[in-house]
Amino acid sequence: MQIHTTIDSLRAARKTAGKAAFVPTMGNLHDGHIDLVRQAGEKADSVIASIFVNRLQFGPSEDFDRYPRTLAADCERLEAAGVTHVFAPDEKVMYPEPQHYHVDPAPAQISILEGEFRPDHFRGVATVVLKLLNIVQPDVALFGKKDYQQLMVLRNMVRQLAIPVEVLPGETVRADDGLALSSRNGYLSPDERAEAPRLYRQLARIRDAVRRGDHDFLKLETIAVAELAAHGWKPDYIAVRRQADLQPPVHADDPLVVLAAAKLGRTRLIDNLEI
Ligand code: PAF
Repeated sequence: MQIHTTIDSLRAARKTAGKAAFVPTMGNLHDGHIDLVRQAGEKADSVIASIFVNRLQFGPSEDFDRYPRTLAADCERLEAAGVTHVFAPDEKVMYPEPQHYHVDPAPAQISILEGEFRPDHFRGVATVVLKLLNIVQPDVALFGKKDYQQLMVLRNMVRQLAIPVEVLPGETVRADDGLALSSRNGYLSPDERAEAPRLYRQLARIRDAVRRGDHDFLKLETIAVAELAAHGWKPDYIAVRRQADLQPPVHADDPLVVLAAAKLGRTRLIDNLEI
């Protein structure tokens, strides 16, 4: 496995990489990332992973500074998982000058759910992902469904801007108690970690109720919010939405997803379940 810290070095390696699958990450890798790498390996001759904590997608009061940077351990895991090339630029390589050109995702997508609570987040994500795709020029790129809205925004960006890459989703990987794996789980105290699966359990309760035919989404969402709040959480949203565009359901046969974000102590967790 080769580790590249400059764009020139990665581009030179890319020339002989054949069909390439790309897994962009911010590091501090867990089994969810490794599952994306495994899926990537089935799709291409080489797997390229990137590790870059992207300042543009963090709000001013968010956790950019304390986001865990674990490059050596990450590279060991990536090598063991069969990654061929790692692109690990520092900020001077990715943003040698202030980034004045951005990708602005559609307002209808970024004013809802995560976008409502993290105003410039998806602009930062879309901008860095377009830049990474331009650098790596992969045939396939993989993104986890844990960040469901991010996956939708990036799929739409790739389609609308005719970026020549196939976007593939990866299933959310969960701990035995249901908690979705996330780099931010590392912020949780032991007590918070024991409490954290309640978010998944509330989503599962809504999913099961909807599957049984209960379509009073507002009631189901309100009960889940109250249940979390009663256990010390500060929920931002719990919402049943259409899978296709994350807007409120209209037709009875719309494929649905239930999404949630809530703070437990200082840690903001997100999760979702397709119904
Ligand atoms: O999902 C992530 O880890 C990040 O948002 C991504 C896609 C690597 C862009 O920084």
